[in-house]
Amino acid sequence: MRTPIVAGNWKMHGRLEMARTLTADIALSAPADVEVVLCPPYPYLGVLAEVLENRSVALGAQNLASEAEGAYTGEVAGEMLAEFGCRYVLVGHSERRSLFGETDDEVAAKFCRAQAAGLQPVLCLGESQAEREAGDTEAVIARQLDAVLSRAGVAALTTAVIAYEPVWAIGTGLTASPAQAQAVHAFIRARVAQQSPEVAAGVRILYGGSVKADNAASLLAEPDIDGGLIGGASLDADSFLAICQAATTAQ
Ligand code: 13P
Repeated sequence: MRTPIVAGNWKMHGRLEMARTLTADIALSAPADVEVVLCPPYPYLGVLAEVLENRSVALGAQNLASEAEGAYTGEVAGEMLAEFGCRYVLVGHSERRSLFGETDDEVAAKFCRAQAAGLQPVLCLGESQAEREAGDTEAVIARQLDAVLSRAGVAALTTAVIAYEPVWAIGTGLTASPAQAQAVHAFIRARVAQQSPEVAAGVRILYGGSVKADNAASLLAEPDIDGGLIGGASLDADSFLAICQAATTAQ
């Protein structure tokens, strides 16, 4: 049995007051049988860790440096995130890959750094519209996944989460259909199973890309969809909580 996870990726939205209110509202009503993770912008982590004291909702960051320490102006180390109460960190989000040029190798390095700092990486994988239209979805996902598997080893996935986020579905309102998402999730699980059936059976694979309160239940009902990585709908407590609720009933 895989405990569902619903994570909110706020991206670079909102300001401190919104962050406080949203976090408090979510913490108050988050269902107990789903792992709920909030990934606010870096500067708010310390304040929100206090808001979340003695609450079951966890904190995650949206990115981390691929190095532990040193002269890397503007970067933030995994250990620093852990000090501020983070338990999770997104790694290889498509916006990091496409807008900030993160390569598969860099993503794999970040994945390892996250684990070395005691954080659970949420490894984001996904194909662009052009790659899907060219029939390359599985090849792209395999390449992105293999970069991490070959560097970290399959056992590393016992303390990690995978998120499938088709780039064409992010922020566009175009959700993958439950069948389209399930097909890619099953592909990811099967690829992990080639190296370890036990690890594959336990690893949680989240779907992200225009998940909303009204489409969450049908996506989460699929056997290989173990939760969601939510962008826009995580900025509204009611919408996000409705998605969390859909994850409990999908179990
Ligand atoms: P949207 O839910 O806004 O499409 O964003 C998805 C996402 O990128 C979450 O990481």
